[in-house]
Amino acid sequence: MSISYIAKQIGESATLKLNETAAILRAKGDPVIHLGGGEPKGKPPLDAILAATSLLTSAEVRYTPPDGIPALKQAIIRYTEDFYGWRPAPEQVMASGGAKQAIMSALHAILDPQQEVVFPAPYWVSYPEMVKLVGGVPVPVTPEDGSFIPRIEDIEQVVGSYTKAVILNSPNNPTGAVYPEQFIADVVDFCERRDLYLIMDDIYHRLIFDGRRPVNCYQYAKDRSENSKLILINGVSKQYAMTGFRIGWAVGNRRLIEVMTNIQSHETSGPSALLQHAAVGALNGIQSSVGSLRTTLENNRNVLIEQLRSFDGVRLEAPGGTFYSFPDFSHYDKSSEKLSKFLLEKVQVVTVPGKEFGREGHLRISFCGSIKEITEGIDRMKWALDPNSPNELYIGQRKLVRDWS
Ligand SMILES: Cc1ncc(COP(=O)(O)O)c(C=O)c1O
Repeated sequence: MSISYIAKQIGESATLKLNETAAILRAKGDPVIHLGGGEPKGKPPLDAILAATSLLTSAEVRYTPPDGIPALKQAIIRYTEDFYGWRPAPEQVMASGGAKQAIMSALHAILDPQQEVVFPAPYWVSYPEMVKLVGGVPVPVTPEDGSFIPRIEDIEQVVGSYTKAVILNSPNNPTGAVYPEQFIADVVDFCERRDLYLIMDDIYHRLIFDGRRPVNCYQYAKDRSENSKLILINGVSKQYAMTGFRIGWAVGNRRLIEVMTNIQSHETSGPSALLQHAAVGALNGIQSSVGSLRTTLENNRNVLIEQLRSFDGVRLEAPGGTFYSFPDFSHYDKSSEKLSKFLLEKVQVVTVPGKEFGREGHLRISFCGSIKEITEGIDRMKWALDPNSPNELYIGQRKLVRDWS
C-alpha cells in the first residue's frame, strides 16, 4: 500500500495502545491492574455534565465559531487572568479538541519543513510524533546530569539556526517533575532573545503537590506585545477529569491565533459544541473537584513512594505533580520494553516503558487509580521481580507460580 512519507514516520501512541491492551485483557477476564493510565478516575464536575445536557436537550447542537463559542473563550480568558495574572483578548484565544489539537495547530502554524523543535527528555510521547507530522524535526534534549530537571545550558546547546520552537511541560509527563522557577524564567528569556516560539504545555499546572505553586511563565515574559512568541496550552482533560470531553486551548498573539484558527477551521471546524458547553460548565462552575483531585493524587503519590521504597533495586525521584512517577528499574532489566512486557505477561500489571518517553531503564507508573490498584499492582511487581519472593502468588482464586528466576 502506498502511504505518505510523513505517515511512515509516525508510530502509534504507546499509551493509547496500552489502554487498548488492558481493555482487551480485562474483557477476557484477566485481573489486569492498569498502572499505565493517563487519566484521573473521578467524575467530571456536575456543572460540566449539566451544561452539556442542557444543550443536548435543546437539540440545538450546531456548528460553532472555529475558535470556540464566546462563552468558552470568556471562560478561558477568566482562567488565564486568575492563574496567570493577565487578561488576553478574545482574539488571543482558541479552543480546540483537547490540548493535543491545540499543540498540533500551533505546530502547523509555525513550522516549515525541517525546522526543529527542542524539548527536554523525558518527554510526553506525542511531542516527537506531532513535530514529525508537520514535517519538522524533533530535538529531544537529555539533561547532562541525567536527572529529570533540565538546565538552560542543555537547551542552549542544541538550539541552532534550524530551531523554531521550544516546548516545556511542567509538571512533567512522564516524570512528575516540577521544573524550577529559575529554569522556566531562563527559557522564557532565552526564547525572547533568540526569537523562538515557546510552547508552554501547562496541562498539569493545577495538579501540583507539597503546597507548591505552579510557575507562571508570563511573569518572566518581557514582551507582551503582538510579537510575543509565547504560546500557552491548557485544557480541561486532566484537572477536571474530563479526558473524554476533548477540550483544550491555546493562548497566543493575535496573528498566530488567527492562523491557527484558519487551520483548525479547515481541519475540524472546531471542537464539538456539546463539549465546549461542558467545558464552560467546568471552568465557570464550582471548583472544589480540582482541589479534591489534587489531594487524592498527593495521597496516592505518597502511598506509591512508600511502596516503591520496598524494592531494593528501584530508584525514584518523588514526583512533585501530575499523576505519574518514573522510577528507574534498570537494575532488573535495561530494556524497559522487555520489563514492561514481562510484568504484563507474568502478573498482569500494565506499565509504560520509559523508552517511549526518551529514557531507557525506567517505567512510567501512574498513580491516578485507586490505592488498592496501586498497592496491589506494586505488590505484584515486587513478587515478579524479587528473587526472594515466595514461589506462589494468589490473585483472587488464581494461583501464579514462579517459573522464572
Ligand atoms: C503533557 C501533555 N500535554 C498534552 C496532553 C493532551 O491533553 P488533552 O487530553 O487535552 O488532549 C497530554 C495528555 O496526556 C499530556 O500528557
